[in-house]
Amino acid sequence: MDLNLGRTNFGDPANTGKSLTREEAFNLFNDWVKNPRLQLHMLQIAHLMQCWAREKLNLPENEQWQWEMAGLLHDADWDQWPEQHCAKIIHWLEEKAIDPAIIRAIASHGPAHFGVEPVTEMDKMLYAFDELSGLTHAYALMRPGGYEGMDVKGVKKRLKEKGFAAGVNRDDIADACLRASLDIDELIAFIIPRQATISLPVA
Ligand SMILES: [Fe+2]
Repeated sequence: MDLNLGRTNFGDPANTGKSLTREEAFNLFNDWVKNPRLQLHMLQIAHLMQCWAREKLNLPENEQWQWEMAGLLHDADWDQWPEQHCAKIIHWLEEKAIDPAIIRAIASHGPAHFGVEPVTEMDKMLYAFDELSGLTHAYALMRPGGYEGMDVKGVKKRLKEKGFAAGVNRDDIADACLRASLDIDELIAFIIPRQATISLPVA
């Protein structure tokens, strides 16, 4: 499946600062994503992105929402249109005249697949959180206490076991940390307690 987007420019700079409302973003999320595992993953990444923007960068609320929105929608088309991932969501956001920074972050969350380099901090953090969050959650699912008492060492041990959560791309994790100049221990320590607070709304 070739997902290369074949371009590196997204959106219109004239739309800088424009986001969806929270309601619009969640309407799209609910319309397009039916798989609960994927829903949870997207909510986890949204939360991690918002926490990073707030806690590490002290960004104002409107910019925190941009980070959160990039996380919330980064896999929006994966459930129903995997062969159009992530061209479909990018096109939809361009049609809605959304800030190019958000569109670009989504377009660069898998450089090996989409052919778009993560450049901005938002790009890099989305890429860095994506796979590592998945591995951390897979580990929580196999622990009797879930996230309770989970430590960095345990996550790193699972990371080294190639057979554990084999779908998680270890090369992407290493590449993302390098690009963002992030220490993997710090990133894991950031993810564990924040991700532990996220669960799907009870239907
Ligand atoms: Fe993802």
